[in-house]
Amino acid sequence: MLKANGEQRGLTASGPDPSRPRTRSDTRPAQVIGRATCRNLKGVPRPPIPYSQPYRAPHESEYLEQVLSSGWTHGDGPFTKRASALLAGLTGCESVLLTGSGTHALELASWLLEIGPGDEVIVPSFTFSTTAASIVMTGATPVFVDIDPATGSLDIGAAEAALTERTKAVYVVHYGGVAPDMDLLTAMAARAEIQIVEDNAHGLGARWGGRPCGAFGVLAAQSFHATKNIQCGEGGGLLINKASLRERAEILREKGTDRSRFLRGEIDKYSWIDRGSSYLPSELTVAVLTAQLEDFDTIQRQRHTIWSTYAQSLETWAKQSGATLMSPPPKVEHPAHVFYLLTPDAESRTAMLEHLRAAGVGATFHYIPLHSSVAGQRFGRTPNPCPATDDFASRIVRLPLWPGMTDSQVDRVISSVHDFEPAAP
Ligand SMILES: Cc1ncc(COP(=O)(O)O)c(C=O)c1O
Repeated sequence: MLKANGEQRGLTASGPDPSRPRTRSDTRPAQVIGRATCRNLKGVPRPPIPYSQPYRAPHESEYLEQVLSSGWTHGDGPFTKRASALLAGLTGCESVLLTGSGTHALELASWLLEIGPGDEVIVPSFTFSTTAASIVMTGATPVFVDIDPATGSLDIGAAEAALTERTKAVYVVHYGGVAPDMDLLTAMAARAEIQIVEDNAHGLGARWGGRPCGAFGVLAAQSFHATKNIQCGEGGGLLINKASLRERAEILREKGTDRSRFLRGEIDKYSWIDRGSSYLPSELTVAVLTAQLEDFDTIQRQRHTIWSTYAQSLETWAKQSGATLMSPPPKVEHPAHVFYLLTPDAESRTAMLEHLRAAGVGATFHYIPLHSSVAGQRFGRTPNPCPATDDFASRIVRLPLWPGMTDSQVDRVISSVHDFEPAAP
């Protein structure tokens, strides 16, 4: 059982951990978010450390100005071409369609699979609402299954146990960019003759067995929401790994019309030919996305430095406290999207979050399992209990992680965690 250090003195008194590698300069100013502050021992206010802070890439304003002065602010302009090529380069997927959000990419995937009433799609219960809502939208039923606590992602045995003759697909979510055993999943899907869709919202830059996440499924969804490694406020992308799906994807994305073919000069007029909606992002949004994608290596370097610092500096504390640190399996190259730990039980999670918040550290929990959510119970089916999901969701604590965190902010997070001491046996 963990408990907060009574007076929380060490919280503010502790300096940087001398054993921790110092690989970044500490010259960047801390940013003040909101108005709440906590105080150090001398009563000097210290701004809270947010959980996440959108990165500002060097060329964002310049590219935005270019879009504004060009007059091409609607979708599928020069920046969309440029950002799509950058995303294709990062994921190894040649066929990329940018969307207004990760949710839109998932919706497109569901329409493209032609699932509908009577069909079932297997989804991990520990995920964001729209992994499942994008299935419900078609009239199909999401079937919730458990996760593997070693990854936070789909338990493939649980997925196999949930197969029925109505199963059409499995939507695998790479939690924190940590994929499950993709060889096992691919073999299972082939045996069952079902499709794999990857919800890769967290996983840009991640790999499993050396292969990029997003390259395993017939389709994959990326998110560029403000909390993601690469962000443009709201944005997303669909990766298409089956060439024959590309043309219909373009139509569904462009209000049900063949306007994309028209823009390429392949036809002399365009018209309404299929279902569809407006899934394409404005060039204004994509200008920011382009600047971010161009800075991908810098962003990732900074995130990995913080991730590794947490992992090294909290190792001993975790052993003493009975906490478990995020520890991706060997075949995984994670993208440093999240750093989480699991407290020994749900009570200590609540206490730890309170302790960290009082210290001005914006640590947080994550998804409320979908199988127990109001909409999950209304629209979904949960054939088997999901004990690992319930347990994981009740014990997870995510620590602040964003590029631009100063060394002193990282040190403050670490010392605040250290101050949450194990109770005497
Ligand atoms: C696993 C997962 N899937 C899908 C989404 C939806 O992405 P967006 O917010 O870009 O619609 C999110 C968003 O956080 C997510 O975490």
